[in-house]
Amino acid sequence: MKVIVGSTQEIAEKGAQQYVELLAKKPNAVLGLATGSTPEPLYAELIKLHKEGKISFADARTFNLDEYCGLQPTHPQSYRYFMQDKLFDHVDIKAENTRVPDGLHTTPENVEEYDRDIALAGGIDLQLLGIGVNGHIAFNEPGTPWGSLTQIVELTEKTREVNSRFFDSIDDVPTHAVCMGIRTIMNTKDIVLYALGENKAEAIKKTVYGKISKKCPSSILQLHPSVTVYCDEAAGSLL
Ligand code: GLP
Repeated sequence: MKVIVGSTQEIAEKGAQQYVELLAKKPNAVLGLATGSTPEPLYAELIKLHKEGKISFADARTFNLDEYCGLQPTHPQSYRYFMQDKLFDHVDIKAENTRVPDGLHTTPENVEEYDRDIALAGGIDLQLLGIGVNGHIAFNEPGTPWGSLTQIVELTEKTREVNSRFFDSIDDVPTHAVCMGIRTIMNTKDIVLYALGENKAEAIKKTVYGKISKKCPSSILQLHPSVTVYCDEAAGSLL
């Protein structure tokens, strides 16, 4: 696991270079994308590079990590809405090449189809991750089996509380989400994990140096062959 500490802008620029290089080498690369406030500076950097003609997403395909159950794609807090707003609407990606799990049609067949479609696309080349204060990756909360594939998960009270800052009240935060599993994430070829802020410092310490334990889902990343952790000074302060 490689760790890079820098200012928010520095790490956004360095991470964005990984995307520039990957898409130059493999224009139809499959990107695993993430939501939350953390990836926003990276997405802003990718949009800037695109406008400067340095990166094209014309043939890229994307699969997002997760989506809340029950929110329409037009709901401002749905992850589909977030992706359109923060990235897709500003670059040359084709709408049909972007996938966000379907939080409205959650039959077992629909949910299982996601892993199948990732495999049919050739697997994810570069997976972007944020991290929860409890070490969750996507919405894989502590205790999630290492072998899990895309599934419906119940959000912990802690996660709902943390994410309630985006909603009018905690009661509006969905209780469930569709989420790529730990195995789905571990099967990706390269991973970049971003963390910003002091409240992520403990989770980052456990990710990099902690015992591999389901109590901290991100600790499994120690076993992945190609992970780069980008953190700002605050998130990296306990390393
Ligand atoms: C949510 C998302 C995660 C994200 C995490 C951290 O729960 N499902 O994918 O990594 O929050 O969010 P933030 O980046 O806003 O701190």
